[in-house]
Amino acid sequence: MMFSYITILASVIPLSAAAAASANIKGLLQDRSNKWSANTTVYFPGDAEFSNETLRWNEYSAPTFAAVVRPGSEQDVQKVVKLSISNNISFLATGGRHGYGTQFGKLQNGLEIDMSAFDMVQVDKNSSMMTVGGAVHFGDIVDPLYAAGKEIQTGSATCVGLVGATLGGGIGRYQGLHGLILDALVSLRIVTAKGDIVTVSNSSHPDLFWAMRGAGTNFGVILSATYRVHDLTNGGQVMNADMIFPGTANVSFLDIVQSMQDKIPKELSLIASMAYNSTSKMSEIIANLVYVGPEDAGREAIKPFLDLKPTVHEISMLPWNQLNSKAAFGATALECEKGGQHSMFGVNVRNVSASTYVDVFEKLDDFWNSNPAAQGSSFSLEFFSNSAMEAVPDDATAYPWRDTKAYLMLQMTWSNASAAESANAVAEELRSELVKSSGYPYHSVYVSYAHGDEPLESKFGASKLPRLAAMKKEWDPDNVFAYGAALPMKYP
Ligand SMILES: Cc1cc2nc3c(=O)[nH]c(=O)nc-3n(C[C@H](O)[C@H](O)[C@H](O)COP(=O)(O)OP(=O)(O)OC[C@H]3O[C@@H](n4cnc5c(N)ncnc54)[C@H](O)[C@@H]3O)c2cc1C
Ligand SMILES: *[C@@H]1O[C@H](CO)[C@@H](O)[C@H](O)[C@H]1NC(C)=O
Ligand SMILES: *[C@@H]1O[C@H](CO)[C@@H](O)[C@H](O)[C@H]1NC(C)=O
Ligand SMILES: *[C@@H]1O[C@H](CO)[C@@H](O)[C@H](O)[C@H]1NC(C)=O
Ligand SMILES: *[C@@H]1O[C@H](CO)[C@@H](O)[C@H](O)[C@H]1NC(C)=O
Ligand SMILES: *[C@@H]1O[C@H](CO)[C@@H](O)[C@H](O)[C@H]1NC(C)=O
Ligand SMILES: *[C@@H]1O[C@H](CO)[C@@H](O)[C@H](O)[C@H]1NC(C)=O
Ligand SMILES: *[C@@H]1O[C@H](CO)[C@@H](O)[C@H](O)[C@H]1NC(C)=O
Ligand SMILES: *[C@@H]1O[C@H](CO)[C@@H](O)[C@H](O)[C@H]1NC(C)=O
Ligand SMILES: *[C@@H]1O[C@H](CO)[C@@H](O)[C@H](O)[C@H]1NC(C)=O
Repeated sequence: MMFSYITILASVIPLSAAAAASANIKGLLQDRSNKWSANTTVYFPGDAEFSNETLRWNEYSAPTFAAVVRPGSEQDVQKVVKLSISNNISFLATGGRHGYGTQFGKLQNGLEIDMSAFDMVQVDKNSSMMTVGGAVHFGDIVDPLYAAGKEIQTGSATCVGLVGATLGGGIGRYQGLHGLILDALVSLRIVTAKGDIVTVSNSSHPDLFWAMRGAGTNFGVILSATYRVHDLTNGGQVMNADMIFPGTANVSFLDIVQSMQDKIPKELSLIASMAYNSTSKMSEIIANLVYVGPEDAGREAIKPFLDLKPTVHEISMLPWNQLNSKAAFGATALECEKGGQHSMFGVNVRNVSASTYVDVFEKLDDFWNSNPAAQGSSFSLEFFSNSAMEAVPDDATAYPWRDTKAYLMLQMTWSNASAAESANAVAEELRSELVKSSGYPYHSVYVSYAHGDEPLESKFGASKLPRLAAMKKEWDPDNVFAYGAALPMKYP
């Protein structure tokens, strides 16, 4: 089945109109009749904090802002949403500022609603529940949970917004045991497109709860979210194994991955990156394997990879709350760095095809050799057991890809803008190759890993779209929550 990709042209607003819009936003926000609470801050271009407030992990096709409001109270979130809507001001609520689809670039001279004051983390040990503010990062929750003897499935980085990730799915190393992050979600407290505060859960607006677990950026600003958490597995001790293989190991390495596709233990995860090493000037494979359990069982599970004789391997037992900051040789520190150029092309697969990935690696190797300014680009593969995620019925949430076995990502980056075009061109070609052997009838992609040009069906699933469109029409008929991966009002 074929659906066509969408070309996003950054909206071209005449300069004078943009300046007038900015002046309008500034005037409206500074109006004293707003009576912002003492903890609410407003920033404009030129203020010392403005660039920090708006800097994103990805500056490629990024939104631009004429102002930032950092609300200090729930009432002020309502106030700024209502003010924006009644004055036709386009806005984006932000948590960790790690969202990266090219669609964000459609927002120019808009208003950022920076939710960073909503940073509460509350763990209720007795009921195994955790409530967090709308801007809490993965890295903020691990210590409070660990102290309470609890864990939750998170993503693999530390600076990414927990709520931002939940709204699209939320994948990571503990998903084999506990499912998607959105499977842990119990309720959301949101400000709707009417400016109302609404609780969304199984018992309060269950249809909206269904839709927000997969297409959640479309319906409101999230003030707080409550999750079900789990007792620590293996007393909180987890095995981390980091390895580096020479590029020449690609065939054997990928054959192992393919052979594991139907039997990866639920405790095991693999995140591997095929990259160019600028020191050795050679391609290589960096692999992070995590086993949630005792070391002997973990070593047994990763034996095929150890037998391949990595040039570097470091294996250690870690407490769960240190895993994300230490795994993959501490790669998350880099993932926290904002301001880079990243053009990301994700593909979900339910068929792991070693021969396809060997070919992609080969073509990337040619690309690295002929494009030195784009040698930071890589091809990565995240492989988790999908048993817990598949145990949840497909119709329980809007999330469409519960049968996915691995998440592939071409991460294009460049140090010189002149390399952007060739990087995007090779990625588009390789992406279509990856889609062909994916085992899905059409390009399927975890919505938060999408490039931004995919057809709606690729991000939301054709079977989910009629109900999602109906929910969008009911809850956000004027499409004010438009700059994440946006839903249509009508489908087909
Ligand atoms: C380095 C890196 C590592 C990643 N690792 C993982 C991973 O391991 N697992 C995984 O599942 N995903 C991962 N992601 C993807 C990530 O889940 C998405 O990019 C997610 O959208 C980021 O949310 P954020 O709050 O950080 O970003 P933002 O850019 O602040 O927000 C992204 C989107 O979510 C919306 N949003 C965020 N917070 C709120 C809120 N409080 N109210 C309303 N809307 C909100 C925004 O409006 C926007 O549409 C990673 C991304 C990066 C860049
Ligand atoms: C304002 O912020 C301070 C410091 O972060 C905090 O102690 C206080 O509770 C906040 N007040 C409100 C009304 O949120
Ligand atoms: C901007 O952020 C950086 C890094 O967090 C910090 O060191 C710097 O002081 C910030 N600048 C301003 C003006 O807030
Ligand atoms: C709202 O703003 C957009 C541009 O941001 C413009 O195209 C549209 O006409 C405006 N609508 C109204 C009702 O002013
Ligand atoms: C948690 O449970 C313990 C033991 O049952 C009880 O003593 C304590 O009061 C409970 N705490 C809360 C916050 O409910
Ligand atoms: C919602 O209700 C369904 C059916 O009663 C139940 O199976 C599911 O576990 C509930 N989900 C949450 C998040 O509580
Ligand atoms: C992949 O492995 C094959 C077989 O070892 C080797 O010939 C090829 O050069 C490798 N490719 C890369 C990019 O290293
Ligand atoms: C890159 O190559 C250098 C030199 O051979 C080596 O020390 C290093 O481990 C390699 N990998 C990474 C990720 O730095
Ligand atoms: C960027 O690439 C262009 C074209 O290849 C080249 O002329 C220019 O010198 C490069 N700039 C830098 C800073 O490397
Ligand atoms: C799945 O992968 C295998 C191994 O590479 C390949 O031969 C096969 O064609 C793929 N299946 C589908 C349905 O794409």
